[in-house]
Order: sequence, then structure tokens, then C-alpha cells
Amino acid sequence: MPFPPSLVHPPTGILQVPALPEEQIFEPIDRSSPSNSYPVHLSLVIPTYNEGQAIQSMISQLTRLLDHAIPGQYELIVVDDNSPDHTWELAQQMMSDYPQLRVMRRQEERGLSTAVVRGWQVARGEVLGVIDGDLQHPPEVLLKLLEAIQGADLAVASRHVEGGGVSDWGLVRRLLSRGAQVLGLLILPQVVGRVTDPMSGYFMVRRSAIANQPLSPLGYKILLEVLGRGEIRQLAEVGYVFQERQSGESKVTWKQYVDYLRHLFRLRLARFKGKGKPIVPLTRFIRFGLVGLSGVFVDMVFLYLLSDPATLGWGLTRSKIVASELAIVNNFLWNDRWTFGDISTQQKGWNKRLKRFLKFNLICLAGLVLNVLLLNLLFNVFGINRYVANLLAIAAVTLWNFWLNLKLSWRVTDVGEGVGSRE
Ligand code: GDD
Ligand code: MN
Repeated sequence: MPFPPSLVHPPTGILQVPALPEEQIFEPIDRSSPSNSYPVHLSLVIPTYNEGQAIQSMISQLTRLLDHAIPGQYELIVVDDNSPDHTWELAQQMMSDYPQLRVMRRQEERGLSTAVVRGWQVARGEVLGVIDGDLQHPPEVLLKLLEAIQGADLAVASRHVEGGGVSDWGLVRRLLSRGAQVLGLLILPQVVGRVTDPMSGYFMVRRSAIANQPLSPLGYKILLEVLGRGEIRQLAEVGYVFQERQSGESKVTWKQYVDYLRHLFRLRLARFKGKGKPIVPLTRFIRFGLVGLSGVFVDMVFLYLLSDPATLGWGLTRSKIVASELAIVNNFLWNDRWTFGDISTQQKGWNKRLKRFLKFNLICLAGLVLNVLLLNLLFNVFGINRYVANLLAIAAVTLWNFWLNLKLSWRVTDVGEGVGSRE
């Protein structure tokens, strides 16, 4: 019985990807396979835990696809955490037929995100990728990611851009995922706000963007770590539909959500220590405020014209709603052109503009409800003059509007023909 091909020894110590794959970093393969003689463009890490039923199909599908797209320029690195179902052994048995396959069996360390980093540490590629080992990430999306990474430091497969989605998640999982995203937007807007799917576990990153950067990921969200600590200047997103699991089950438990929160705060702290950059882009905020002022003027003029006994004398709430909607239209036009002009010019076209307007309107309407409640509270309960009350309510809601619009309305989500990149 020929000696089974050797497994890759798991690196220990600091979680850090070297600048260049050096000979001494990874085990010399005791096979004369071509995999250690040619430059590798892509190293794709497949983290597994109890994926014994999916791993063979996974490896053969990936091989078929990449043998066609980048023959001889890729490697697959299965990083298994000593699965009880022996996923690592099933993968190891395939190595003799798949020369580009490498397998690591970790017995000392556990966890999805550290598994990915350990895989990248032994990788040879200039582009480092990660894909789930359970066939929930469609392998064919790799071709879109390979194209997108050509002009970017990071290319993310996202469920929340055109062509994206999830197939079988229930309402609770969807709410949890979106809730986690909004929480991330509040705690770490500069990181989480850069992508539409910060929870994605399916992406490619240039080695140069994370080389020699100590990483300390927690739980499942390796993308957060790359965004938070890497030098990511250009970023691209491609849409994908998260598939139903065909075998085994998700390992996501409440622990992953707790780890996610801890991870957010850890990165938040690191960013304060490291850069202390203002979290709010000041110029944009000042412009947003000036536009808001013009909106206050529009709001006040129409509130007077509609509700004042000397003019039309409509009811306060009805006048307020009409006056505010007119102010929202005014503010959108100015913001789209001036405050966020640099972003909206990347998203030309009426349908994209309409989409931005609807998101802007939705956020501002939520702010309007807040505004009306505050106005009535200050006017009817605290007896403050209606115009002073209106001003106070508008000021409180301006902050709300700025933050959410910056993160949701003017984020570059549409990636054109599936590929786009942005700062
Ligand atoms: N080595 C290792 N160690 N692999 C792990 C571990 C671990 O502790 N936990 C999970 N994995 C592997 C699984 O075997 C699977 O291949 C992949 O990581 C994803 O784990 P799942 O448990 O299937 O996660 P999910 O499908 O619920 O969520 C996935 O997709 C989301 C959307 O992209 C994960 O990738 C999430 O991080 C991601 O947000
Ligand atoms: Mn899964």
C-alpha cells in the first residue's frame, strides 16, 4: 500500500501571512508533483469541519473549474480541524489524483477564521482565497472573483448586490445576519460599511494587502479581519446566491455571534490605537449639514404656507408631512450632486439614481416619523414654541439621517457587469 501523501504541517505561533511564499515556509512535498515547480496565482483555502459528505464533490468541482480557467496556476488547501468524520483523511486520499490539492489536519487549534489564516500561511499564491467546504458557495463564482481581483486588493462574493441572495435561510437567520450587519455599521462603520456583505465567507485578497500584518481573527468573520487590518485600497464585489446545504449542518451557534461582537470591539480598539482617524468624514458631514439647512428652509417655508392660520391653515401634522417630503426631495438632489457626488458618479443612470432616492427617502421618512414624534412631544407635552421645537427635532434627526445614508444609500453596491472597484 503506497505511503499516503503527506499532510501539510499546521503552522503555529503568530497568525501572519508572509510577504512571499518562501521554500522554508511550507513542507517540501514528498512527491514529484508539478505543484511545487510552477508559480501559483491562486491559493484557495477550504476550511472544513465534518464535511466528509461534501468534500470529494467539492474538490472535483473546483478542479474541473480551475483546470479550465487557470490550469496549473492554482492550489487547493483543505484545512480541517480534526473532523470526527475524518474529512481530512478523505481529502488526503484524493491527493494522488489531484496534484494541486494540499491537506492540513489541525489538532491543536480550532476555529473557522484561524483555519483560513493557517491555510494562507502555507499558501504559495499571490492571491489568497477562501470558500466554504460545504458547496453553499457556488464554485463558478470563483471566475467572477478572479476577474474582479485583477483590479482590486479584495474581491468579495456578496449576497447583497445585484445577482446576490440566499436560497434557504429562514426569517430568523436573515434578521440575525442583517442585524449583525447594522450592529457592525454602528460599531465599526469604516470597516463594515465598506462592503455590502461583511458576513461573507467567500472572497479573494491579494497577499500584498495582508502580508506581514499580524491577524487576530475571532469566530467566523475572517473578512472583517482582512478589512480591518489589511491595506485594502481597491475593493470589488460580485453577486452570488448562498446555496442550500446538501449534507451535514451549519456549525454556527450563538458562540459565533458573541465572537462577532468581541471581534468588532477588538478591531474598533485597534483602529483607535492605530490611527485615531475621525470616524466621520468631516467634509461630507459639513456638506450634509448645509444641505440639511437648505432643507430646513424649505420645510419651514412650506410649514408656514400650509399650516399657518394666516395662509392655508391646514392641520399641523398634514402640513409637516408635505413640507418634510418637499424638503427630502430638495436634500436628495443637493446630496446626490454635492455631498456624495464622488460616489454617485460611480453609479450613473436613472434607475440607480431612483434606487438611491428611494433608500434616501426611506431613511429620511423614518427620520420624519422620529421628527414628527419629537415635534409633537416638544410642542404638546413640553409646550415649546412650535418653530423652536421643530428646529430641535430636525437637529436630532439630522445625525440619524447622515449616518444611515452614508452607510446604506450612497454605498457603491451595483458592480456594473458583475465587477466594480472602489476606494
Ligand atoms: N477548519 C474549520 N474549523 N472549519 C470550520 C469550522 C472550524 O471550526 N467551523 C466551520 N467550518 C467550515 C465548515 O465546514 C464550512 O465549510 C464552512 O466553515 C462554513 O461553516 P458553516 O457552519 O457551514 O457556516 P454557515 O454556512 O452557516 O455560514 C457560512 O456562510 C456565511 C455567508 O457566507 C460561513 O462562511 C459564514 O462565515 C458566512 O457568513
Ligand atoms: Mn455552510
